Amino acid sequence: MADQQAQSREGRKPSDIPALRWDEPPEGPVLVLLDQTRLPAEEVEVVCTDAPALVQAIRTLVVRGAPVLGIAGAYGVALAAARGFDVEEAADALAGARPTAVNLERGVRRAQRAYRAVLDGGGDVGEAAVAALAEARALHDEDATASEAMAVHGLALLDELLPGGGHRVLTHCNTGALVSGGEGTAFAVALAAHRVGRLRRLWVDETRPLLQGSRLTAYEAARNGMAYTLLTDNAAGSLFAAGEVDAVLIGADRIAADGSVANKVGSYPLAVLAHHHQVPFIVVAPATTVDTGTPDGAAIEVEQRGSHEVTEITAPLVQVAGVEAGGGVPVAPLGTQAYNPAFDVTPPELVTAVVTEHGVISPVTAQALAELCLRSRQV
Ligand code: MRU
Repeated sequence: MADQQAQSREGRKPSDIPALRWDEPPEGPVLVLLDQTRLPAEEVEVVCTDAPALVQAIRTLVVRGAPVLGIAGAYGVALAAARGFDVEEAADALAGARPTAVNLERGVRRAQRAYRAVLDGGGDVGEAAVAALAEARALHDEDATASEAMAVHGLALLDELLPGGGHRVLTHCNTGALVSGGEGTAFAVALAAHRVGRLRRLWVDETRPLLQGSRLTAYEAARNGMAYTLLTDNAAGSLFAAGEVDAVLIGADRIAADGSVANKVGSYPLAVLAHHHQVPFIVVAPATTVDTGTPDGAAIEVEQRGSHEVTEITAPLVQVAGVEAGGGVPVAPLGTQAYNPAFDVTPPELVTAVVTEHGVISPVTAQALAELCLRSRQV
């Protein structure tokens, strides 16, 4: 099961903080997670020694964000295999831990396939475990490479759409190193703009109810020395109206075959605002997030989370999934039920471009996404 250990990482840059790492102490292999529910107050690690602990960590958002969920899921299969647990059972539990980010199931099944292939070929469980771990490591490396490529393509697109330079970019939720094998998706683009002196301002949406924007994106922006300003989600309208936003950059949890984009709840209202104000709305995601098996936005399962995340301010913010009373400070009358979808879906006609590691898709069409998937061998 998981245990926690405080570990100071003073002075490190965000890109040096691994959201997760595989470790092999004498007691046996473990997956170590940076506990994202405790940021920015403290940097604490959660050590998972089995798949149920990792499932719990995924549900409670200790580890979160689409790309890294895929990586975590793959390592989870490797962990079950290395420790001699039932790999099939572990894989199913991990794949179903959260429903919306397609990367999670993809990562799990990829490591599971590698494990099975060795057994089918006559190898033993030890060899199969090694293969599952190698697959998880490969996915981890590929995501880092994809992140670098997305930053290059995304910055080129920003420069093309906004030739004056001095970009003022609004972002939502958290899409940096904490969600990635590299420096992230949308945040990596903003970081690339910052590094070449072309990011005038990063507007960071607070991202209610779990504050991934203020707790995590502001933390990453501050540690990278970026010019950023935090706003409540409902201040975005007046910011657009004041002409202060040049582009919106967000990530994605699943992009359906028709180009509908599921991302953190609050993304769709930003897309509507961007459309009204004729501001580019740019989605940055690796090809592993494109799911041509999901035909359209209506077919995307949107995770519904507990009322307590809205009715209470908790510290740490995230409590065990399924437990209604979070034990935090109430900000609504006792017993209040809340509508708390974790994600919303933006239709393709509101998306200016999808940036992946393979380049820019604009306009966002089913055909262009299908071609991308063929190229990256995702089905
Ligand atoms: O509920 P979370 O924190 O896992 O939601 C994460 C997001 O919505 C991110 O924006 C998305 O995964 C893209 S990260 C590259």
